[in-house]
Amino acid sequence: MMFKVPRGTKDLLPEETKSWQAVESLIRETCRLYRYEEIRTPIFEQTELFTRSVGDTTDIVQKEMYTFEDRGGRSVTLRPEGTAPVVRAFVEHKLFGLPNQPVKLYYMGPMFRYERQQAGRYRQFVQFGVEAIGSASPAIDAEVIALAMDVYQRAGLENLKLVINSLGDKETREAHREALIRHFEPSIGEFCSDCQKRLEKNPLRILDCKVDRDHPLMKTAPSLTDYLNEESAQYFNEVKAALESLGIAYEVDPNLVRGLDYYNHTAFEIMSTAKGFGAITTLCGGGRYNGLSEEIGGPEAPGIGFAMSIERLLMALEAEGVKLGNEDSPDAFIVALDDRSRREAVRLLGELRAAGVTADMDYLGRKMKAQMKAADRIGARSVIVIGEDELEKGSASVKNMAEGTQELVPFGEIAKTVKQIS
Ligand code: HAM
Repeated sequence: MMFKVPRGTKDLLPEETKSWQAVESLIRETCRLYRYEEIRTPIFEQTELFTRSVGDTTDIVQKEMYTFEDRGGRSVTLRPEGTAPVVRAFVEHKLFGLPNQPVKLYYMGPMFRYERQQAGRYRQFVQFGVEAIGSASPAIDAEVIALAMDVYQRAGLENLKLVINSLGDKETREAHREALIRHFEPSIGEFCSDCQKRLEKNPLRILDCKVDRDHPLMKTAPSLTDYLNEESAQYFNEVKAALESLGIAYEVDPNLVRGLDYYNHTAFEIMSTAKGFGAITTLCGGGRYNGLSEEIGGPEAPGIGFAMSIERLLMALEAEGVKLGNEDSPDAFIVALDDRSRREAVRLLGELRAAGVTADMDYLGRKMKAQMKAADRIGARSVIVIGEDELEKGSASVKNMAEGTQELVPFGEIAKTVKQIS
């Protein structure tokens, strides 16, 4: 029987993990600049955490969660996203009591959603996300957006579009909700059964239904923007002004509602506008979630954050032809010509590595020519040849591959010589 990687997941082979590592370190470095610290939460949580926060009428909760009963009869769910777990940890560990507020956190790890597989959509994907919890200042909204843009720009992406919207506060959403019900109710029979349920429970969710996306009533639906009260409009203006002072270009899209229930005020997405980028163009999504902490039993703690998948970031880099991750060629490769030389090679390898030299040798007992070829293939900068003659002299010949020169070097000085060549 042949086994295959599960649908919607993938193996990352060393060829790919190089670019992953490059992106990961770029992300960590950017978070350090903005002073966000890493948090790691478990891969699974109590199911109710997600139904409460993400919302039980959302696609994520209704169709996409990997939920199962553990052996103790508890319902647990593989995390479909990172915000709810981070806010749960913030409440549980009373991070609201720390002297430095807001608490600025970031995370990077696998998330799970049972979705139809397509380019850029997986069942296991890695999200990098940040959450700034404990401030209701529009300036932190702009900071969070700036951080996301910065990661993409540092990675080398140029074709980006930032789209923002305001979902307003409770009052705004209530007025908008009533308007949506009035708009959809007369024709709700033409919509899918999920939308029919959503009409009463959460009509906003109708707007991001994947099934009824093209229904004409979607285009004419009342826009949240028309229902923003003065306070919400003022908040949104300040976020826009902060973005402008950071020199970050944006478009306002009144139809941007996001697919999770915890959002209010600022919502945003970053898209790739690169030619040849797949059907899914959203690279990153985020927004403000005042009230989420209270919803899951914590104190008042307004928050904002975003998440992006590393998979989509790498796809965008590919679409723009940007290569990340250095060639990983070693400083040295040891060619040993007989058994005694091989024993000496093992010892020398240990010594070189202890001195911080990246080095490798032949483990297949190949002939000299094949060993030289192997050294060439992996791009070794120096080749160290050990044979009977060399052993006799207590030296090895060290070849500088770039210049084609060669010299006999006493064993004790090989590390130094190789380092000079690299
Ligand atoms: P989201 O829009 O559901 O938001 O997901 C954010 C990002 O995760 C997407 O823009 C995309 O890059 C990636 N993503 C989502 N689903 C998939 C998938 N099936 N395959 C590959 N990538 C995917 C959230 O998850 C919120 N927690 C973001 C947030 C943080 N809001 C505030 N703080």
